[in-house]
Amino acid sequence: MVQLNSAATSTEQLTSKIEELASNSTGHAHPAKQLYASPWNDHVKGYPGVRLSDRALLCPTHAQAEKLDSMMCSLYDVHSNPDGVINLGVAENGLMVDEYIQYFGEALRHGLNPVDLGYGDRLSGSKRLKTAIANMFNENFQPVERVTPEHIITGTGCTTILDQLSWTILNAGDAILIGAPFYAGFDVNMVSRSGSHVVPVYVPDGEKAVSPASLDAFEEAYRVCVAEGREVKAVLLCNPQNPLGLTYPRETLLAYAQFAEKYNLHLISDEIYALSVYDNPNLPNAPEFISFLNIDVEKETGQKFDKSRLHVVYSFSKDFGANGLRVGCIISQHNQFLLRAMLHTCFLMKDVLLSTLLNDKPAFKAMTLENRRRLTQASTYCREWFRSRGIDALDTVAGHFMLVDFRKHLNISTFDQERQLWQRLLDAGVYTATGGGYHWKHPGFLRITFSVNQESLKRIEKELNLKVVS
Ligand SMILES: Cc1ncc(COP(=O)(O)O)c(C=O)c1O
Repeated sequence: MVQLNSAATSTEQLTSKIEELASNSTGHAHPAKQLYASPWNDHVKGYPGVRLSDRALLCPTHAQAEKLDSMMCSLYDVHSNPDGVINLGVAENGLMVDEYIQYFGEALRHGLNPVDLGYGDRLSGSKRLKTAIANMFNENFQPVERVTPEHIITGTGCTTILDQLSWTILNAGDAILIGAPFYAGFDVNMVSRSGSHVVPVYVPDGEKAVSPASLDAFEEAYRVCVAEGREVKAVLLCNPQNPLGLTYPRETLLAYAQFAEKYNLHLISDEIYALSVYDNPNLPNAPEFISFLNIDVEKETGQKFDKSRLHVVYSFSKDFGANGLRVGCIISQHNQFLLRAMLHTCFLMKDVLLSTLLNDKPAFKAMTLENRRRLTQASTYCREWFRSRGIDALDTVAGHFMLVDFRKHLNISTFDQERQLWQRLLDAGVYTATGGGYHWKHPGFLRITFSVNQESLKRIEKELNLKVVS
């Protein structure tokens, strides 16, 4: 991957970097459907006119955004675009869409007030929303120390919050360690503006990926960074894990805390799937979700822990099937400097919809329980669907997706072949995400979102000529 900190100094170097970037972005468009043609190459290559900043030109993440945008230009709709692309590559939860449309419609009709039409009453998010978020955390995740509105800064989704956080805590070139596989967006959100360096840490497979032993790989990654002269500033975990769909046991959270303390790192816990945990009889011992705010590190380990390093991020995109509302937050209970620095760059959003739901306890409870029931049903259906066709899908207990293993069925052993499979399905109208895009070390996997319509499975069945074998 091209790194921002290795900035080109001459036009020649810059052009060669741009060519490298441009070559990364070719082949992502959807040839069969003539989707969005990228203006990126033509715009920058040899262009003599007004130029963008080197930061923007060399930013390594444009190709990924373009790929996604290309797909979104031709999205499937049962009535208006039945031949469009079905998106199984992004974690969206359509299982509760009718309920939420009805609920949010009512909330908007009855809840709007004059503050909503102004700049609001707090720069870091309205009092109403921050109080509702604090209450939600206190009532659902049992924090050691009660969350108050003063601990919270809101923003337009986790994407923006992570971008702001990264800009606030990391200098260009600083390293942030993340256990692989991990959400592809971290490569974008943590890097694009701060110029930091995401280091994938390859942890063991299966349930060991979320075990305390996974921290051994972090020790090694830390040593390698130091040997390369790179400053390691942060460690990030996503709990529940994306793309593995697993929850972290308490001991592993403690091991993360001790690792962060040992090397004086920021500790970021992305808890965006906190309420999207469901049942899977194949994983009877999977822990329920535990928020990092529920961990009393000093009491539980008997060792010192500087609480100012801990930052939890959350958004309403996933647990409330509301990616489009763009509401997220950071909760940092002991770091006034960080909150102050992020206040300068924070956004304010109109929040009547979510605060109405969070304050309506019976509706909140009913919706989250029903969501859990439907996630259980949809994940079981999807996993069994693949397994009955001779294709394994990993067991999960959280999130809206699962890694599906096409290695045996299609004889895949390289990431090139994995990419070809991805392209083949895209040409057949199904957008998925490659395991490689999530730093999954075994070629031949796709991450499939199971919480959307099942027409997509028919397309996959037809394209790959799948047959029921059991
Ligand atoms: C782990 C994780 N963090 C953050 C995000 C971004 O979410 P948001 O819609 O709040 O920007 C996603 C979206 O898929 C995600 O999976």
